[in-house]
Amino acid sequence: MKLWKKIVIAFFCVLVAIQFIRPARNVSAEVPSTDISRHYKMPASIQRILTKSCTDCHSNNTNYPWYSNIQPVSWWLNRHIKDGKRHLNFSEFTLRSAASQYHKLEECIKEIESDEMPLPSYTLVHKDAVLNAMETRQLIDWFNSVKDSMKARYPVDSLLLKRK
Ligand code: HEC
Repeated sequence: MKLWKKIVIAFFCVLVAIQFIRPARNVSAEVPSTDISRHYKMPASIQRILTKSCTDCHSNNTNYPWYSNIQPVSWWLNRHIKDGKRHLNFSEFTLRSAASQYHKLEECIKEIESDEMPLPSYTLVHKDAVLNAMETRQLIDWFNSVKDSMKARYPVDSLLLKRK
């Protein structure tokens, strides 16, 4: 057999073999008590925007596309989800200290304003995740309103000090 044929066959064998190595899925049926929406009033319109643009990577419930069943695609997606959740997890948002929650809200506004989120590699495939001007405005207003409600609930100093 020609060398190139052996290489092609070996390549496909590896491709088949790696299909069996699957990372655990990030799915959970219920909205946990630590979810941001359980502690701060979240209108349905905001819920909709966060679900289409953010929570695939920033919550405990990812809506997986069909191609996530193919390796190595799912490894790559899984890395983004893990990394995204480590930085910000809306499902476990209120496990953070008040100061840290407040800081994350500020970061959300910053990321949206600077067009850094949702990640460009994500919007390339999920066109509907791109935030239009109105959605951007709505999200920023909402994050600000949550910040305001925190300021009403906690002494402002305690929100600004001891970050992280
Ligand atoms: C495709 C996955 C993905 C999507 C969708 C996504 N993010 Fe992220 N996000 C990440 C990853 C990965 C990081 C960490 C690495 C980085 O900053 O690039 C991150 C970081 C962040 C941070 C920074 C937190 C910190 O500690 O610095 C904020 C805030 C954030 N995202 C908000 C959002 C918001 C708001 C949306 C929706 C409008 C969104 N993200 C959509 C993957 C995603």
